[in-house]
Amino acid sequence: MADDSAINVAGAGGLPATPKIPDHVPASLVRDIDFHKRPNTLDDPFSLTERMYEDFPPIFWSTEGVPGRYDGCWVVTHYEDIREVYQNDALYSTEDAANFQVLVGETFKMLPLAVDPPEHGKYRVLLNPWFSPRAITEMEPKIRATINDLIDKFVDKGEADLAYDFGRLYPVRVFMDLMGFPAEKLEEFLQWEYAILHSDFVEERIKWGIGSAIAYLRSFIEEVRKTPQNNLASHIVHGKIEDRPLTEDEIIGTMTFLWVGGLDTVAATTSLMFRRLALRPDLQKVLRDDPGLIPNAIEEFLRTEPLVNSTRLVKADHLIRGVQIKKGDNVQCYNSMGNFDPAEFENPREIRFDRPSNRHFSLAGGPHRCLGSHLARRELRIALSEILRRLPTFGLKPGSDRTAVPGLVAVPRLPVVWPV
Ligand code: HEM
Repeated sequence: MADDSAINVAGAGGLPATPKIPDHVPASLVRDIDFHKRPNTLDDPFSLTERMYEDFPPIFWSTEGVPGRYDGCWVVTHYEDIREVYQNDALYSTEDAANFQVLVGETFKMLPLAVDPPEHGKYRVLLNPWFSPRAITEMEPKIRATINDLIDKFVDKGEADLAYDFGRLYPVRVFMDLMGFPAEKLEEFLQWEYAILHSDFVEERIKWGIGSAIAYLRSFIEEVRKTPQNNLASHIVHGKIEDRPLTEDEIIGTMTFLWVGGLDTVAATTSLMFRRLALRPDLQKVLRDDPGLIPNAIEEFLRTEPLVNSTRLVKADHLIRGVQIKKGDNVQCYNSMGNFDPAEFENPREIRFDRPSNRHFSLAGGPHRCLGSHLARRELRIALSEILRRLPTFGLKPGSDRTAVPGLVAVPRLPVVWPV
């Protein structure tokens, strides 16, 4: 999924050089966090946050903003604080989250993300059946076939780009099939999505991406309206909330947010996971020797690859750890730190498939916990088990670029080789 912070991964290209800092923010709490969102070639691309518990206060003001939304925001980094922000919907609202559509003059809300409980619940009631564990189990044969179809293309070659030719493609195919989108839109969808989420704050690119997506979705909705089908798009267009049809705004808002959220989150996680495994044949061996560990492994890869840092709008003045927070401020839950809080996770930077409890924030928390979490987990499990089943031990192709980004863009290319 893609929250506002998703576009923060790339840096501050289109923002004012001197960000405005509100009067109630003490200068001693202002920090620039851009340094650890930059592309790097480290084994663990997220390790740049490692020293932040020592070097940064537990709550600080980040000077990084989001075009059209805010110039800066509070950042909480400790597990307990993040959990409180996610769970306390009376104090922290999602109404302003992921509002890319306002950049192109749209006034609909991104649903179900941008509404608070109790209203939020009725949109989840509409969508939950399509994302329940049972529904995902029904999708499993198709997911497995999609994955194996891609693996067939490279299994005999001894090399493949596991990001571009695999991770980038299979979740999008699964998502497009679930929604009922025509398969031939795939490359175009990916271009629009990339412009929205990875365009280094260049407002014109974001506008182009979201504007193109909304225009297409509106025409697609009209087609679905004429011809009902057995897919999620049709369920939304012809669906009911509390016994009434959805309004135009609710339909386009739900379709748009699903489109933004469903496209490349699993892709990024997949590529990061295989990058890690390519660098760590010992971890591959552990999973090949005991495939029963795969569900735990997926949880551990999710924890150590927190793609999104979600932001909430503050509804009333209050204090966090003695710091004055004002109504209208934004607070970002820094999953890139909370998932590595030593108070919650023993040896947090170590990848361990035997953690007794692994309640990370990569799929957020509280009422807006990721709707697609069961689908994402199942896709990742199948991808991991099929790659391990069909490929022998693989490693990064010598001399290849090993750049990764600690965020949604993740790993654009991942050439790996194996003996044939
Ligand atoms: C590894 C993959 C994924 C990750 C890391 C991820 C992450 C997240 C996060 C962090 C949120 C909360 C955003 C916030 O609170 O501001 C979220 C919400 C959401 N995600 Fe995902 N997501 C993933 C996969 C998916 C998929 C595959 C879909 C749909 C096909 C999806 C649809 C949604 C929706 C609709 C919400 C909003 C839920 C609500 O507001 O109730 N996500 N996701």
